[in-house]
Amino acid sequence: MVTISAPGKLMLLGEHAVVYGYPCIVSAVDKYLTVVVDSSKGKQDEIISPGFSDTRFIKEAINIFRDKFSVKDPINLKTESELGSFGLGSSAAVTVATLKALVEFFGLHLDKTELFNLSYEVVKKVQGLGSGFDLTVSIWGGTIYFEGKNKKVENLCQEPLPLMVGFSGEKGDTVSMVKLVKEKRQNYRKGIEKIFENIAQLVEKAKVALLEKDWTRFGMLMNYNQDYLEDLGVSTKKLNNLISASRKTGAYGAKLSGAGGGDCMIALVSKEKKRAVIKAIKAEGGEVIEVTVGTAKGGII
Ligand code: MEV
Repeated sequence: MVTISAPGKLMLLGEHAVVYGYPCIVSAVDKYLTVVVDSSKGKQDEIISPGFSDTRFIKEAINIFRDKFSVKDPINLKTESELGSFGLGSSAAVTVATLKALVEFFGLHLDKTELFNLSYEVVKKVQGLGSGFDLTVSIWGGTIYFEGKNKKVENLCQEPLPLMVGFSGEKGDTVSMVKLVKEKRQNYRKGIEKIFENIAQLVEKAKVALLEKDWTRFGMLMNYNQDYLEDLGVSTKKLNNLISASRKTGAYGAKLSGAGGGDCMIALVSKEKKRAVIKAIKAEGGEVIEVTVGTAKGGII
């Protein structure tokens, strides 16, 4: 029997633009999705995945694994998740953990880059358009600068960041938000490409600010990124309210995180302001998610 856990993620800056090759910054969170693989007692694969109605990523990961390594033996696979349905990257975590668990169970080997490449094949098959950014922190942990174009991964730091997470209560759907932006790009190619270029510049500046721990600047760049996400039409009224409440109570900066259309927002907050920002997010009907951002050292375990 093999047990593998992979951390979830939060996008810090660069969402949507990263799908078109631009860079983004992403952090792991200290919440995990665990996959246990054992031999099956029957002739078929058994997948037991409570709280996970969408098993496409697991099934596709098994198919791709079998194709690559010509393994036919049926398996029993169980998942257990701490990630909930807040948009914390459970699809990426389950993909990475399933592949890694299968590889170890059958006594095979993949290095981290090979694991990323195989996992990305799964994401492309199931999701169509997607950058694969969320796979990086599930594999490497910490906070990563990821280049969408050549899938370059650069480790920025392995320390916790002063970020808070608020759930809007609305369920975001990544596939439809990515499609929405794709259609906008088809209709207004120049304008949308310009927004992506501006987001990419923010990401470059944010990378420096993060390495210098210049939170005032990092927060300001998050705010600018949110403006562009609003221009793309992926924010919601509820997210905007949580974001502006956080800023008004002293956050360095706040923005949505991920595809938008719901799910979570993040706020960069000093220790002194944390209590006030938590209160403000709750007062706007948001749910504060207790996670530490940027800490899942080493990623997959
Ligand atoms: C979703 O969390 C982030 C997007 O950029 C999609 C992707 O990168 O695959 C919208």
